[in-house]
Amino acid sequence: MDSKQPLRITRRRFMTSSAAVLAASSFAPETWASTGQAVASRGPFRVIVDTDPGVDDALALLLAMRSPELKIEAITPVAGNVPLELTLPNALRLVEIAGRTDIPVAAGAKAPLVRRLVTATYAHGENGLGGAVFPDPTTKPVAEPAAEYIRRVVRKYPHEVTLITLGPLTNVAAALNADPELAGLVRGLTMMGGSLSGGNITPAAEFNVYVDPEAARIVFQSGIPITMVGLDVTRKTSLTDEHVRVLEAAQNPVSQAAAKIGRNAINHNRERGFLVGPNMHDSLAVAAFLDPTILKWQEYYVDVETTGELTAGETLGYSPVAGDLKRRPGAEKEAGAASMSIRGSAPTLASTKTSPVVRDKYGPNTNVGVDVNSARFFELLIGRLAGK
Ligand code: BDR
Ligand code: CA
Repeated sequence: MDSKQPLRITRRRFMTSSAAVLAASSFAPETWASTGQAVASRGPFRVIVDTDPGVDDALALLLAMRSPELKIEAITPVAGNVPLELTLPNALRLVEIAGRTDIPVAAGAKAPLVRRLVTATYAHGENGLGGAVFPDPTTKPVAEPAAEYIRRVVRKYPHEVTLITLGPLTNVAAALNADPELAGLVRGLTMMGGSLSGGNITPAAEFNVYVDPEAARIVFQSGIPITMVGLDVTRKTSLTDEHVRVLEAAQNPVSQAAAKIGRNAINHNRERGFLVGPNMHDSLAVAAFLDPTILKWQEYYVDVETTGELTAGETLGYSPVAGDLKRRPGAEKEAGAASMSIRGSAPTLASTKTSPVVRDKYGPNTNVGVDVNSARFFELLIGRLAGK
């Protein structure tokens, strides 16, 4: 077994801190949580939104800024969909559109930890907002860089801050690298990222994890209780003409901006020959934090492939109840978990490793969204953006 095992997250911390538990005290994996409190009666929760706007980031940010349950301590743009030179002003534009210049915006990383930046202008356009043009922002970012800002806010409010990440995880990993105690002080992390059912930028990897797999691995192995809203569920959300019509009809700056971005995104999707979409990946992550009962959840130990020639950025979900060899109900989970190790690739002849086991015992680190009630999600998203 590898002597350097990833940090083990305690079951207690995992269960008490996950976003799903926050909303549904009788949280039960593999079922629609049915006892969620009314959304607006919860919170306020301190959050930092880390993001790479980004068409769907833009709608997610507007949703977050229109949600009274959230006390947004900072928005921390990172390079991803487009370079930081665009994600930063896009974030500033969005706080101005939402009338939320009270929220500090701290500039993040220009490049992944150890890789060259790969962007997604094919999906988000050259300006990151799908070609939708808004005035240049006059608001300035704070002087502190994002990683330092994240560190300072988490330390100021120990065990209170949830990180909502909508882009590559570079800023968060940099903060964790700079401060080894930080992970233990973060309340939780809800991410749009990853997939247990194939990728979107390669057959293996989802874009946010693909761009900075090393950062993602640091985050998954940090011990922070993670809620993963990946392609498994975000692919089931499609913005439609009808959604945009509702936004267009609502006469307020947020709904008008969202409608403009949404309309462009739908047209762009059609031009590329897609019959459905665009998917509202990032808004679903924000919605999942606001109301976890919109999704079904299943716990996994998730790790990230970082060395594959074709598969870097793939997220692997280990679960004692996955697979074909079912045990009898009830005994299944306990027996499976007790006997399950985390197994990696077979050692090569050239390596010093002798065992494929990278971790001797299973323990979950992530609640993974495995299904979504898309209609309820859009009720929340469009309702809030329209200002209802
Ligand atoms: C994710 O990648 C980005 O292109 C989107 O903004 C979203 O965060 C989906 O894979
Ligand atoms: Ca994004």
